[in-house]
Amino acid sequence: MTEIVQTVADLRQKVRAWRAAGDLVGVVPTMGALHDGHLSLARRARAECERVITTIFVNPKQFNNPDDLKKYPRTLEADAALLSAVPVDVVFAPPVEEVYPEGFTTNVSVGGVSEPLEGRMRPGHFDGVATVVTKLFGMTEAHRGYFGQKDWQQLQVVQQLVRDLNLPVVIVGCETVREADGLAMSSRNVRLTPEGRARAHVLYDAITTAATDIRAGQSDRMALREAAEAVRAAGFDRVEYIELRDAGTLMPSDDPRRPRRMLAAVWLDGVRLIDNIPV
Ligand code: PAF
Repeated sequence: MTEIVQTVADLRQKVRAWRAAGDLVGVVPTMGALHDGHLSLARRARAECERVITTIFVNPKQFNNPDDLKKYPRTLEADAALLSAVPVDVVFAPPVEEVYPEGFTTNVSVGGVSEPLEGRMRPGHFDGVATVVTKLFGMTEAHRGYFGQKDWQQLQVVQQLVRDLNLPVVIVGCETVREADGLAMSSRNVRLTPEGRARAHVLYDAITTAATDIRAGQSDRMALREAAEAVRAAGFDRVEYIELRDAGTLMPSDDPRRPRRMLAAVWLDGVRLIDNIPV
């Protein structure tokens, strides 16, 4: 079974020895409740680095809803067993006091890219992410950090953070892993009812159709409207947004010559689902 380390001091001792031996160290930051999407990040890190750390920390600072934080699944033993099969070298699973000790006052806030979409819907969320990711890079001293494209905006925020603060870590963005019907893997999917789960693929179908239609010459506005209608018609509770944005800045973009991304956040069965694809 992969060793679980809980303190920065214990982690540092290992990482410093690895780095002294010239090993390339990769980190896969997670909040646990691991699924194949996370494991694909760990496998990619395994293939590219001599040493792999997976962090498991349910970060209270990135939850803007206390109920969501309380309900977040905590499955450390099962997660460690899955990671043993990759295998990773160490699981870093610190208690909250190790990450945010008494007297902790720093907040890392990334401007621009963190403001629209998720930033607008979940105030404070990306400050929480940026703060903990900065800490995780400092604690693990990893050379490379692996993040999923499923959280496209988060990936852009982390890249901006690393650029702005000259952090000595290379960010690797990895493809979204999908269920057979196209639903993006997420720890939240288990909260869907069987009926909701059966319909959830409609989100991916709708944005894929819209992207295809836009490439074929349909107007952005019409394609996005039809995607939202398809999702509503399938009985989803709510469409928060389905938007076409510049892939890097996340600002509105009607320039098809630039890389663009369609991003969506919707509610189904009381569960918030997000997804995105290139256009
Ligand atoms: O994507 C996540 O699971 C989290 O936002 C992260 C990057 C582990 C920070 O808590």
